[in-house]
Amino acid sequence: TLAACGNSEKTEGSGSGAESDGVQEITIKIAHVVAENTPKHQGALKMKEVIEKESDGKIKVQVYPNSSLFGDKDEYQNLVANNVQFILPDMSKLVGNDPGFNIPAMPFLFESDEAANAFWDGEKGQEIFKRLEKDGVLGMAMWPNGAKHMTNDKKAIKKPGDLDGMKIRTQGGQLLEAIYAELGAGSASIPFGELYTALQQGTVDGQENTFSNIESKKFDEVQKYMTIMGHTRVDYALLTNTKFWEGLNDETKAIVQKGVDEGTKLARESAKKLNDDALAKLKDNGQVEINELSDAEIEEFKKTLEPIYNEWAEKIGKDIIEDAESK
Ligand code: LMR
Repeated sequence: TLAACGNSEKTEGSGSGAESDGVQEITIKIAHVVAENTPKHQGALKMKEVIEKESDGKIKVQVYPNSSLFGDKDEYQNLVANNVQFILPDMSKLVGNDPGFNIPAMPFLFESDEAANAFWDGEKGQEIFKRLEKDGVLGMAMWPNGAKHMTNDKKAIKKPGDLDGMKIRTQGGQLLEAIYAELGAGSASIPFGELYTALQQGTVDGQENTFSNIESKKFDEVQKYMTIMGHTRVDYALLTNTKFWEGLNDETKAIVQKGVDEGTKLARESAKKLNDDALAKLKDNGQVEINELSDAEIEEFKKTLEPIYNEWAEKIGKDIIEDAESK
């Protein structure tokens, strides 16, 4: 089998794995749910490249995109079971584990990827990652994707009331649900791997996502309108299994850590460009009518969503939100 600790008699139960017997011959699986032309997949490929090269091929890394190994519903439990060694869920899929992961869904909180990166690299962000340790899961890094925008097949959205009566797919969690309820829309959480079909069949009228997710999954084929608003974000948590990590000896761990660092760097450097390129392609394709909200129109959404923001600032923790706002 492709157990992560492969030839692991020496490492199993060795605790910190402090003594080293050379690089361990192991296979590492990285699973995620999005397409290839995304910062998540590009970052995962960089991890593979670095780890395989630095280990002279002793460590093999297999990357599974498009929910081909595990999807939204089962990737976390399979990480806990060490059937996969790295996953990169959108934090909105972790809100059941800790309310802090609602941060990317806080309306208009961060103005840029850099601000989001700074928060998750900082003390408060790291505290939220640490809360996964009770599951035997380690938060290794935050990877940004970027701001989300709404698509739907009913009408161009220009003001909050325009969503009235629509049903919108979300990544999950009560905050996104509350946002749509406030805007007069219903919502449903649907795994990313099932979203194209749900939009095509009209199970839901719309969804919110980054340009690179919208374009790489061809949602513009099954949606008529896209509103550029950037009200919420997709940010990822790179997670690993604690036992797997602690079973690595120092030499192996340093190589995998280098892969993590370089993957993170590449994902962070490429996210904005991939979104810009995807927006250009969506314009080129001409399949969705695109409207960009003006500052005044954005203010209307901000005002409408302010009570939700304040309510969730309390739920997440005022100190955490103040720290995020300062970035
Ligand atoms: C989604 O489900 O829409 C996104 O979270 C997918 C992803 O991982 O970027």
